[in-house]
Amino acid sequence: MTAFERTMADEAGARHAIAVNSGTSALHLIIRGLGIGLGDEVITTPFSFVASTNCILFEGATPVFVDIEPTTLCIDPEQVEAAMTPHTKAILAVDVFGHPADWKALEAIAREHELLLIEDSAEALGSTLDGKSCGGFGNAGVFAFYPNKQITTGEGGMVVTDDGELAEICRSMANQGRDGGGWLNHVRLGYNYRMDEMSAALGLSQLQRLDELIAARARVASWYEEALSEIEGVETPHVKPNVGMSWFVYVIRLTDRLSRADRDGVLAELRERGIECRDYFQPIHLQPYLQEMLGTKRGQFPITESVSDRTIALPFFTTMSDEQVRIVGTALSEILQRKKRH
Ligand SMILES: Cc1ncc(COP(=O)(O)O)c(C=O)c1O
Repeated sequence: MTAFERTMADEAGARHAIAVNSGTSALHLIIRGLGIGLGDEVITTPFSFVASTNCILFEGATPVFVDIEPTTLCIDPEQVEAAMTPHTKAILAVDVFGHPADWKALEAIAREHELLLIEDSAEALGSTLDGKSCGGFGNAGVFAFYPNKQITTGEGGMVVTDDGELAEICRSMANQGRDGGGWLNHVRLGYNYRMDEMSAALGLSQLQRLDELIAARARVASWYEEALSEIEGVETPHVKPNVGMSWFVYVIRLTDRLSRADRDGVLAELRERGIECRDYFQPIHLQPYLQEMLGTKRGQFPITESVSDRTIALPFFTTMSDEQVRIVGTALSEILQRKKRH
């Protein structure tokens, strides 16, 4: 376990790493460990997996959504400042699909307004911004190791931070509130969020191959770029020039001339041809339970909603071949040509 944690801390350029049983647990520990709770507002993105918002709700704090940049699909720093109130305590940004958020801008905002800053890097293990590793920005960061991620431990996650006190609290909370005083001595409210040794061993062995895995995924992404760039109506992912991209998924967008129903039709036709694909993500503020809890509704975050209506996550895995990518490209091209004619 400690070897996996040490290697992971090095990978993120952080002083401490605490292995836990999921990315969601890691996020929860950070929110609680930083003392974020009732009455606090956390500015975050509606374009993410729900766990990045749920961890705020777990502690009774309020997520305040702001819209995303249309290129990187990460939170828009300019909108963060506009959403601030006297109750704002933290910013929780997500490195969406492996692309780093604008951490330089977010760190400047957090510094100026004395806010906590949390990096959900669940999808970005191995990505860099200006040469600095994702996971290492802000007060603390998170990685996740579900089987769809760059490396997997089955289920699993990791807290990374330079803050020694936060690391100690997270480690204790992940282990039923123990603090070195014995198995049946509990100094705080804790959880069973521990990662087991078997998972850690699996994680360590894959982490040692991370560069090779990232390179293989980058190769598949470049084949896709080649196969899709000429197809009218398809927008391939944007990668900023100062980013080293560790590809999590390969998500294209259809032109905004097509509706959500058109996109769903394309998904259905791809699946009919045996090509597994999905819409990704559905906006968090439109999830039924959040509309009920927070009163959020369609129309509030137009970029998130427009992007989300047009995404298609294409098949993407480390061992995918050039030939398989070309089959997907040809299918997509044929389906879109036909749509154009109708
Ligand atoms: C952005 C983001 N945050 C958090 C998580 C949660 O990780 P886990 O599924 O390991 O709990 C995920 C996982 O899919 C994710 O994509």
